[in-house]
Amino acid sequence: MIQIKNLNKSFLLYNQNDTNINVFKNINFRVNKGEVVALTGNSGTGKSTLLKLIYGSYVISKGDVLISDINIRKSSPRDILKLRKNKLGYVSQFLRVVPRVPTIDVVIEPLLEIGCEKKIALKKAQEILERLNIPKNLWNLSPLTFSGGEQQRVNIARGFIHNYPYLLLDEPTASLDQNNKNVVLDLIEKAKLNGSAIIGIFHDETARNKVATREVNLENL
Ligand SMILES: Nc1ncnc2c1ncn2[C@@H]1O[C@H](COP(=O)(O)OP(=O)(O)OP(=O)(O)O)[C@@H](O)[C@H]1O
Ligand SMILES: [Mg+2]
Repeated sequence: MIQIKNLNKSFLLYNQNDTNINVFKNINFRVNKGEVVALTGNSGTGKSTLLKLIYGSYVISKGDVLISDINIRKSSPRDILKLRKNKLGYVSQFLRVVPRVPTIDVVIEPLLEIGCEKKIALKKAQEILERLNIPKNLWNLSPLTFSGGEQQRVNIARGFIHNYPYLLLDEPTASLDQNNKNVVLDLIEKAKLNGSAIIGIFHDETARNKVATREVNLENL
């Protein structure tokens, strides 16, 4: 499970007159296996920041994030990379990839990293790209020139190709049409039934109500 204990985050902006931004204080909640917790709260309350703290991308100011028995605040960068590779998935709002790498290779990468055979990884990638309606003639092209929604679906394919027991989703359905939105919601539902502990941000209330088992509002904590 994921546990958030007395978590505080502030940013000290050295290059802007040492301005201190307090994002949030004393956040406490836990996410069990098979739960989808939706983070809510107005823009700027720190939803994306919280996911980045859990993923180990931002430094924790105070408090703890536990993923099973692993304490993120006390983990070395090497331990965090290992955790991301095996257990902790993150679908960010925007796709970040190395230029000129074909889409299919972007999608199979997480499986190759855990030692999956290339043939099996390719088969899984084809299945998920088909499911997400990415036209076959695009699979061998870099996703950098794709439309916003296509890039988002490549990002989702990458995040769901491996059954991560812990999954962080930042607006996974934001720029998708209804049909593709439903495909993504089905993928989330499947991961939930599989026993993953999931934390997501969903601006779309209908999408949120469909998959979330609980809501944590960052304004009321
Ligand atoms: N790297 C950073 N450096 C400085 N301040 C940051 C950084 N990342 C986030 N912040 C600040 O933290 C606050 C929370 O930002 P965050 O992106 O987490 O909000 P959010 O709840 O995800 O908003 P939205 O709904 O608009 O996506 C903002 O005031 C933002 O300026
Ligand atoms: Mg955000």
